[in-house]
Amino acid sequence: MSALFEPFKLKDVTLRNRIAIPPMCQYSATEGVINDWHHVHLASMARGGAGLLVVEATAVAPEGRITPGCTGIWNDEQAQAFVPVVKAIKAAGCVPGIQIAHAGRKASANRPWEGDDHIAASDSRGWDTIAPSAIAFGSNLPKVPRAMTLDDIARVRQNFVDAARRARDAGFEWIELHFAHGYLGQSFFSEHSNQRTDEYGGSFDNRSRFLLETLAAVREVWPENLPLTARFGVIEYDGRDEQTLAESIELARRFKAGGLDLLSVSVGFSTPDANIPWGPAFMGPVAERVRREADIPVTSAWGFGEPKLAEEAVKSGQLDLVSIGRAHLADPHWAYFAAKELGVEKSAWTLPAPYAHWLERYR
Ligand SMILES: Cc1cc2nc3c(=O)[nH]c(=O)nc-3n(C[C@H](O)[C@H](O)[C@H](O)COP(=O)(O)O)c2cc1C
Repeated sequence: MSALFEPFKLKDVTLRNRIAIPPMCQYSATEGVINDWHHVHLASMARGGAGLLVVEATAVAPEGRITPGCTGIWNDEQAQAFVPVVKAIKAAGCVPGIQIAHAGRKASANRPWEGDDHIAASDSRGWDTIAPSAIAFGSNLPKVPRAMTLDDIARVRQNFVDAARRARDAGFEWIELHFAHGYLGQSFFSEHSNQRTDEYGGSFDNRSRFLLETLAAVREVWPENLPLTARFGVIEYDGRDEQTLAESIELARRFKAGGLDLLSVSVGFSTPDANIPWGPAFMGPVAERVRREADIPVTSAWGFGEPKLAEEAVKSGQLDLVSIGRAHLADPHWAYFAAKELGVEKSAWTLPAPYAHWLERYR
């Protein structure tokens, strides 16, 4: 029996297996509107057999895009463009999810293959950025953001709510709030980026406030029967890891109490001075600790692309879902071949009948 190919039920949504495709930006949209490339990219991976596909970090406001090519869901045209893609993902037997995001001080950047740095001030493609405090990330992202006013905070919280409502209406069945990777949510939590002296900075309660308020506000519009999840960096690898993890686990407990159904456990990426122990499945033990101590279902990514590693992560109780990113870019049929490698009984994984006839009968 394969643990990876067991179905997973969360609220009223059942995934056909424990394989999730995490959000992966394509930096290829125009004014935030997706196009044929996104369609083929997403539909092909959904067809490959994973249980869940989460669409890339999609900005809740124009200034919240990482790059000018990032997808958006701050207007109805952008939301409408997702409708056929959502249908295609469902037709492939996969559950359509979306990550809604605001990039904060890391916004207004060039695409990764065009420098991955902030767009120069003299370049009209760029824009002014906002963040909890007027502190730049540094390194390749030197632009100093404007410190958000209380009105800005209320406005962005409402942007998340409006984005969730549009995602719901477009047919998405799973939503992920992007509170990770040094973007706006994470940067409220991290003292690397938050030096505020008002009720949104300083103490643990204050640094958690924006995230918890946003979750509560989205909870109001996101259907009760569908999974509401978040991605959060629980650790920075900056030498203060025990303290950060303890705070993160407490925050995960509060997320759960506030109606969060699953946490995608990731790295904070709040400082360029981190010393990240890259390696296969390195987040597994960290995610397991969050899962156990906060008593919340988790997924995690980073190097689980070897089928036996993914299987072991579920079997050993580290993860409820395994997020497989780059391996899906290399092979959209990752799940199909993982099932074969793990010797999964054909009845335990789903192939559409027109394929099953040929691939199971004659394999
Ligand atoms: C092309 C690309 C784009 C990504 N975009 C996002 C994103 O939009 N949101 C996010 O939370 N993570 C993003 N990530 C990180 C992935 O979700 C994932 O955590 C990472 O690829 C590690 O998993 P893997 O080793 O299975 O690839 C991206 C990664 C890649 C390779």
